Amino acid sequence: MPRLSNEKINEIRQSVDIVDVIGNYLPLERRGRNYLARCPFHNDDHPSMSVSPEKQIYRCFVCSHGGNVFTFLQDYLKISFMEAVKMVAQMGNVDLGDFTFYEEKPHVNQELEPYYLMHEEANRIYKHYLTTKLALEANSYLSQRHLSKDIIDYFEIGYAPEQNILLKAFEKSGFSRMQAYESGLVIESEVGYDRYSNRIMFPLHNSEGRVVGFSGRIYQKNQKESKYMNSPESKIFIKGETLYNYHRIKNDVRNEGKVIILEGFMDVIALYKAGIKNTVAIMGTALTSQHLKMLKRLSNDIVLCLDGDQAGKNAMIKCVDALNNEGFHTSIVVIPDAMDPDEFLEAKGKDELIALFKNPISAVDFKLNYYYERINVDNYEDRKNYLESMVKVIMQLDDIVDQDYYIGQLEKKSGFSKETIHHLMSQQTLVKKPIPFRPVTYDHVSRLIDKYQKAERDLLYYMMQDKKYAMEYEAKAGYMYDKVNRLIASYIIDYYRQYVILEVADLINMIDDQDIVKRILEISSLHLPQLESNQAIDDYIKIIQEKLKIERIKQLEQELSQTYDPRQQAKILQEIIESKDKE
Ligand code: UTP
Ligand code: MN
Repeated sequence: MPRLSNEKINEIRQSVDIVDVIGNYLPLERRGRNYLARCPFHNDDHPSMSVSPEKQIYRCFVCSHGGNVFTFLQDYLKISFMEAVKMVAQMGNVDLGDFTFYEEKPHVNQELEPYYLMHEEANRIYKHYLTTKLALEANSYLSQRHLSKDIIDYFEIGYAPEQNILLKAFEKSGFSRMQAYESGLVIESEVGYDRYSNRIMFPLHNSEGRVVGFSGRIYQKNQKESKYMNSPESKIFIKGETLYNYHRIKNDVRNEGKVIILEGFMDVIALYKAGIKNTVAIMGTALTSQHLKMLKRLSNDIVLCLDGDQAGKNAMIKCVDALNNEGFHTSIVVIPDAMDPDEFLEAKGKDELIALFKNPISAVDFKLNYYYERINVDNYEDRKNYLESMVKVIMQLDDIVDQDYYIGQLEKKSGFSKETIHHLMSQQTLVKKPIPFRPVTYDHVSRLIDKYQKAERDLLYYMMQDKKYAMEYEAKAGYMYDKVNRLIASYIIDYYRQYVILEVADLINMIDDQDIVKRILEISSLHLPQLESNQAIDDYIKIIQEKLKIERIKQLEQELSQTYDPRQQAKILQEIIESKDKE
């Protein structure tokens, strides 16, 4: 079986831009020459991961996780090196020839595969039935709701007929009765009832885009069952980990810079009709911590718009705090007249819906209004309570200008003067959220290393910049005191046996030891000045040799103290003297 050569692996790595690849998974912000992201490898509250388009590497200066595109995909998607190489080759259109991967698809969970396949099949069957005459009335309901053919195709809307069709189809495809029952789509009985009967079907996907469940809607006036019926939780369908439309919107979120959270999937579809695509729906449940993690992968900026009725607003108050606690920047759209986005679109049209989403209000404004609507302004106690709780909200703000603005708002609403508000604020002890612990950054640490460490580190930096410095090191020193540095130096020398220019992103492919990789990334992220002459290199080598000498003498002195044979003692002494004399 042919193996991929280092050349080929480097070619694959160079076929893509690390910024594009990481940008597929994390929101990136440009900062000078680099891009910044929140590091997904530790609980990051500020963007600490830097991605360098020049060096094609990334590195977190808090947790020091880093590497090249392969490392990123491996660690982010929890896949093997070879899988990452294959993925990148596909992205960069690099032909792998007849190379076969010996670790084919280990991340496909074979045990769950039948359930995914049954859902795919059911989805196909439901879509087909929507085109049959059994679905005439269902289709007229869809057109009454202005769901065009395009929308039906895009959201893969289908129809579950009144007959029991799935068990037979599944058995024909080779699934067992047991598996059919376990899928949740067929109900255990002699005939094998279909769970869904006479409903319009909306497939629900997981974050990778595989169908894991359905929601079926009634569409006839005389249907007395619940409006939507959802799949029960199963091995592949976990409601708290499902966000409707999540798998479709990565690029839209990148373009828009934010995610809009809606209540129902008809709202997602309504916004889609208005050309707004960066939306997900929580489908009438609470926002779970798993949802928050999924959203974190897309963006840090959230627009929350649940239904405009009382229930929707109550849910939004809860969501806002959950989102803020996770460090999201959250703003809010309140749909007027207690409508949901879909009803608003029907009532007012596209342009008004778009305008509404162009102007979300801040979370603090939302809270000021929400609680204001719940007090009786003529009641002094009510106003006072309102004032006191809103002061606490305002005090959570870090920005003085923001604080000042909301104090103004609070003055208008509560009827208490700014002076009173300020006075109250100064009396309150601020119960701030704890400031997250931030470990020392590299620059901080670097000041603590001794001059010998620094010489080795800086020399390695220049060796990576230019082959001639590496050759010089090899000729004149060939050894470093620190073990990790010494190994890095030998990797660099090895690398230059094959190549003239060193790409850090390729160098680290050759190295399995993560501590060594981390050190390499740390060193290559230094910003040392361009060298004017070789003098600096000679100086580093001298310092390194001095260190080696000091250590050698220490070692000899130790040997001397442990030796009782006078002849041996004399020999060691001689060597110590010679060492000390040596330049
Ligand atoms: P809504 O009652 O707001 O539905 O429930 P909707 O989005 O306006 O739908 P239409 O316009 O009447 O068709 C919001 C979400 O709550 C879940 C669904 O996921 C829905 O999208 N829900 C609602 C259920 O799961 N079951 C129900 O019986 C009702
Ligand atoms: Mn609705």
